[in-house]
Amino acid sequence: TERTYIMIKPDGVQRGLIGTIIQRFEQRGFILRGLKMMSVEKSHAEAHYADLSSKPFFGGLVEYICSAPVCAMCWEGKDVVKTGRKIIGATNPLASEPGTIRGDFCIDVGRNIIHGSDAVESAQKELALWFPDGVCEYEHAMKPWIYE
Ligand code: GTP
Ligand code: MG
Repeated sequence: TERTYIMIKPDGVQRGLIGTIIQRFEQRGFILRGLKMMSVEKSHAEAHYADLSSKPFFGGLVEYICSAPVCAMCWEGKDVVKTGRKIIGATNPLASEPGTIRGDFCIDVGRNIIHGSDAVESAQKELALWFPDGVCEYEHAMKPWIYE
């Protein structure tokens, strides 16, 4: 099954949104495979956002991600990469639909509280970067009640 990297950014952690965000993925039927609090080194944040290194906001983005701990997660399920992005909402929260995480909890693109991998390939790269020792492999008892 597909896996994605979801990260609650420092503002989401500081604002006490970890439980709310986990609940949205959990109640949808996705399986939590990895979860940890982490203070992020500059080089690690730069590696995560390497594709954006030429953007004018890159320095501020790296500073933001390193400004306080993040909550790193691995979620699993059918089409979880694309569906996770839908649950999160558009990059700019002012364009995010109400009902999405960004559309319900934030305003500014530079404080958009959560990250989600944008493709299966980037999810694999990001999971390798954030969970180098792998995630928790276990049988999930709910599966037959979520999938036909
Ligand atoms: P992530 O899930 O965090 O990767 O967001 P995304 O995939 O919706 O957007 P993208 O990968 O293009 O940008 C990564 C992050 O950079 C965004 O989530 C924002 O936090 C930040 N960012 C993107 N565009 C801007 C911008 O124009 N200004 C600022 N200040 N930050 C931006
Ligand atoms: Mg992105």
